[in-house]
Amino acid sequence: MATAAKFRPSHRGSSPSVAEQLQSRARQVEARGTRVIYLHVGQPSTGAPDGTLQAVEAASRNSTLGYTPAAGIDALRERIARQYSELHEVAIDPERVVVTLGASGAMILAIVGCFDEGQRVALPQPFYYGYRYAMSTLGIECVRFETSMENHFQPRIADIEAIEGDIDGLVIASPNNPTGSMITPAELRELAEYCERREIRLISDEIYHGIVFDDEVPEATGVAFSDETIVVNSFSKYYSMAGWRLGWMVLPEYLVEPISNLAHNLYLCAPAPAQVGALHAIDCRDELDRHVASYRKNRDVMLKRLPGMGFDRFPAPHGAFYLYCHVKHMHEDSVDFCIEMLEEAGVLAAPGSDFCPDSGQHFVRFSYAGSAEDIEEALDRIERWRG
Ligand SMILES: Cc1ncc(COP(=O)(O)O)c(C=O)c1O
Repeated sequence: MATAAKFRPSHRGSSPSVAEQLQSRARQVEARGTRVIYLHVGQPSTGAPDGTLQAVEAASRNSTLGYTPAAGIDALRERIARQYSELHEVAIDPERVVVTLGASGAMILAIVGCFDEGQRVALPQPFYYGYRYAMSTLGIECVRFETSMENHFQPRIADIEAIEGDIDGLVIASPNNPTGSMITPAELRELAEYCERREIRLISDEIYHGIVFDDEVPEATGVAFSDETIVVNSFSKYYSMAGWRLGWMVLPEYLVEPISNLAHNLYLCAPAPAQVGALHAIDCRDELDRHVASYRKNRDVMLKRLPGMGFDRFPAPHGAFYLYCHVKHMHEDSVDFCIEMLEEAGVLAAPGSDFCPDSGQHFVRFSYAGSAEDIEEALDRIERWRG
């Protein structure tokens, strides 16, 4: 039956990412009998650590696992806070930690809780595309700005000063998606202090903390340098718990109550089983560091083999599990390039246009979060395909 015109979706249902659209194309390739190797997703191929599984099993027998406080269970908030002193020597009051529905949920709360409709939040290109869509859905103006390959696509103060008009916020990520590049502690301090001075709300996405390979760029947290910085983090990547949908934020004290109220009003609380599991995941670093060692091996295999196939220009990948390669000399358009690689080599990578609407057509992101066997096999296929 035809739908009456007034029953229509709101304007907020934003368009799916290019990578999502290619995913359905990959299903067609699979239907023709080719096993596609998916290098377009940033998802660990491992599950939650053992300690997490045991704790959740016990808790599901011994407790109701009902609603929790909107900001999360106290034990988890305390454990997350303690981890900042263990890893970064920064004392954080557990009251400043709010547990969320992944980093995605944290980002939505940060946007809704800090900015009013029409305010301007700057995003250095390339960026994780979810931010852009979240902002436009919530009526915030997303101000994209250029960074440079020389600075590994991380923002410098000069880049921010070059933005036209005032901005109210800035989102950064280190290690970054799609590049895997990092901001040094000194640069992070500079950015945090600059933003505080200029009354620009800094949101530091630290979701890839823990997945860092080189001692050259040590990991630093935004809360070390300014109490006004909002930190967003998650159990999806280092903790290998993507589908558990759990993350957290560290907030200035005066934002805890309004942001917890928003969490309560929007979704009551984050899932209790995931919170119990996350509490125990924090103490499974030995197991989780073994995953990081395999990401590092995967990265090194890619760094060794890809340049010989023409993928020889990318920002330094010091963390996360991505390589963001310049491909303009191979193809004018990275979406078409990814389609050809999918159809002809059975390997799916993510075209850069999702991460950078302005120059992403010249880049492709490879994820090496998968198994070592898949990475080798994908590289063999790409090598044959490139001839
Ligand atoms: C930089 C970045 N931030 C946030 C997210 C969202 O993560 P979550 O699963 O915690 O919602 C992702 C997911 O890939 C990401 O790459």
